[in-house]
Amino acid sequence: MKTCRICDHEINPFMSFGQMPIANGFLEKKDFEKEYFFEMKVSFCENCYMFQLDEQPDASMMFHDNYAFFSSLSKYMQEHFKSFAHFVMELIPTPKQNAFIIELGSNDGIMLEHFKNANYRHLGIEPSSNVAKVAIEKGINTVSKFFDLNLANEIYNEHGLADAIICANVMCHIPNLNDIAKGIARLLKPNGLLIFEDPYLGDMVKKVSYDQIYDEHVYIFSAHSVAKAFSIAGLELVDLIPQRTHGGSMRYVLAHKGSRKVSSNVIQILEEEKCLGLNNIETFKNFKLNCEASRENLRSLLKEIRTSGDVVVGYGATSKSTTILNYCNLNHEYISYISDTTPIKQNKYTPGMHIPVKSYDFFKSDMPKYVLLFAWNHADEIFEKESKFTEQGGKWIRFVPRVEII
Ligand code: TYD
Repeated sequence: MKTCRICDHEINPFMSFGQMPIANGFLEKKDFEKEYFFEMKVSFCENCYMFQLDEQPDASMMFHDNYAFFSSLSKYMQEHFKSFAHFVMELIPTPKQNAFIIELGSNDGIMLEHFKNANYRHLGIEPSSNVAKVAIEKGINTVSKFFDLNLANEIYNEHGLADAIICANVMCHIPNLNDIAKGIARLLKPNGLLIFEDPYLGDMVKKVSYDQIYDEHVYIFSAHSVAKAFSIAGLELVDLIPQRTHGGSMRYVLAHKGSRKVSSNVIQILEEEKCLGLNNIETFKNFKLNCEASRENLRSLLKEIRTSGDVVVGYGATSKSTTILNYCNLNHEYISYISDTTPIKQNKYTPGMHIPVKSYDFFKSDMPKYVLLFAWNHADEIFEKESKFTEQGGKWIRFVPRVEII
């Protein structure tokens, strides 16, 4: 019997994506043979409403010295983190000279640098040492460890309580959420706030953006599941602010129970979630059928283009693309290469399907006819940048919210 990671209630997977590699595990040819795969299955807990992965590879296989994800590479994300930092600063009641901010999964310091520049006492926790190093070089206080209850105690002894604990696209990566929630409750001042954002289950269900599901995302949160999971540690959901990032995210604001007024957004969004069925397993059984239909449509479209003799290349070797490529079984015969601006991914191969990743310069000189937009969450920024390609007759293919040529 399988039990829920949060509440121990019995759960059963409703969908398998088949064998999946590490989503950010871009690799060289010499490493093909020893590549790691796991069966990616998802479950929904009818007791605490948590959407979750059944099995997750060991954290050290996903977050390590060669972690291929650098937050600062998108201009839009840089702006987003600046505005997130200012949102947090405005919510903290403590005068800034006495305030203390902790960020979990602080990556290359993209958010904390705003606190550093405004002279806030701050601490970043970042387990991947290569990205942590970049933050440290920028003068951002960072420890390269996994956050858990022990580390929470160490931080408490050394730095005291925090006014805000923040994170972006990190909480949904942490399997032992109960332990983390307790650590956070331990470290927060009585009027302190936990503020985090992650890809939102409501967007994923509405857009059939199943590419949000990959090894790192052990949970896809909703207001329902977050409220339940954190209540175990005595924290209460006090505000919710939808975000456009990552194809549709939610910012969750939590506080010690009873310490803050609950915003009307919380009531409203909980109601909307009930209408969408995010508290009902039937919604997810239907979601599975929608994913299968989307896969069929994408495969047929790409087959048709291939039969007509045209070539398709990918844009953005995202973690999300690993799910699409492997679930839809798309190899280099369908996608000849993927262009990506991240140096650590270039001249490597995509996890599982082994499609070559080429530099942006290569893409610019190639100018293919069809481009499959894997980085669909950055569509506005990319369409603006690639207006010349579009004007010259280049065609974009997308699969969210539906498979189509645009
Ligand atoms: P990201 O949006 O973080 O998605 P995921 O969380 O699924 O990895 O990744 C975007 C990827 O797309 C990243 O590897 C950089 C790449 N990219 C480009 O190649 N060109 C661009 O213009 C943008 C915005 C991103």
